[in-house]
Amino acid sequence: MDHEKGLISREIFSDPEIYKLELDRIFGRAWLFMCHESQIPNPGDFFQTYLGEARVLVTRTKSGTVEVLLNTCAHRANTICKADSGNASSFMCTYHGWTYNLEGKLVGVPGDKELYGSSVDREQFSLRKAAQVGSYRGFVFATLDPTAPPLTEFLGPQGRYIIDKFANLGDMQVTPGIIKHRMRCNWKVAVENDEDYYHPGITHASYLDALGSSFNEANEAFWSQEGSVVLGEYGHVGDTQAGYDHSSIFPQMTLLTSSLQILEIRHPKGPQEIENWYFCFENKNATEEERLAARMNQVRRVGPAGLVEQDDGENFELSTQGSAVTAVRDAPLHYGQGLGQGEIVHDEELGFPVLRSKYTTEAYVRWSRRAWADWMEADSWSALQENHARLGEV
Ligand code: FES
Ligand code: FE
Repeated sequence: MDHEKGLISREIFSDPEIYKLELDRIFGRAWLFMCHESQIPNPGDFFQTYLGEARVLVTRTKSGTVEVLLNTCAHRANTICKADSGNASSFMCTYHGWTYNLEGKLVGVPGDKELYGSSVDREQFSLRKAAQVGSYRGFVFATLDPTAPPLTEFLGPQGRYIIDKFANLGDMQVTPGIIKHRMRCNWKVAVENDEDYYHPGITHASYLDALGSSFNEANEAFWSQEGSVVLGEYGHVGDTQAGYDHSSIFPQMTLLTSSLQILEIRHPKGPQEIENWYFCFENKNATEEERLAARMNQVRRVGPAGLVEQDDGENFELSTQGSAVTAVRDAPLHYGQGLGQGEIVHDEELGFPVLRSKYTTEAYVRWSRRAWADWMEADSWSALQENHARLGEV
């Protein structure tokens, strides 16, 4: 990576060794989004998701706390709960029947007395849990790292601003049913596209055409930068451009705060594969008509027969394939758009520095790649805290 020149190696999008290190140093340490509290309101409610590549169950316990349990049996490592979500009083493994409660405690072993002489240690063979669980404005996060700073500190003012903006849209709840699909692309390729206003005029030309917008009109709208770029500590990035409002919490969560109200997660599934999850939100107080209109809008955009994400998907897959071609392994990729052209100013209203630039800029992706390098180089949370890029210093 050459931050000064805005050059990035292709290898970071395809190399298996780099991916393995990402699972340890990024997905093994960062606070990752689990679910929204509206998905697990009652005792016994659970939602299945991933911490990196590990399956986890987010549960609402009888006492009302939220737990994040590693969904792998202590007996032979089988997946205990295969359902995506639901309500349960306990989880029984479908291999030999070991059973765990909502806190992950081993509470049942078939043949315990006869076959084991009651010797199975219930503490030791309970489910492993995330090291820390936290919630901010109804958004539940967890981390595998006990030394990670508290969630609010990880988010920082910029990350909190991004979530606040979404939470302030109203009394938000997740529409039941998460839209999920696989793509053969590197997770960073997908995330970095979320604030990319350079591509819509080309990639989504047919969609924009259907909306009655010409190529030039579209580019004029997407290229001009009326707002600011938010560059948060630890790699969170966002924008305050009127109308478009896409912001990402590092490493793989994006919030679309415009009329769409969608939260996207890119779960890593190997160096060249992801599982995309789209959480569509609606306002609890919306009328039936408003709810239907919001759902139609969301499904048109990211649903299986939607018009926008499908355009992007092919680019993501082919870019990932291209980054793995050994014949051009040493040819760096150009991330230099807007380099040196923006101005960092303190935004009084937001209370933190932002980048202002006349046109849309790749500054946000240079920033998150810089943060990515900080995460990958630091061998512990304390090393990362000591040595990471802060906007005030660049
Ligand atoms: Fe779960 Fe045997 S693997 S009970
Ligand atoms: Fe797109």
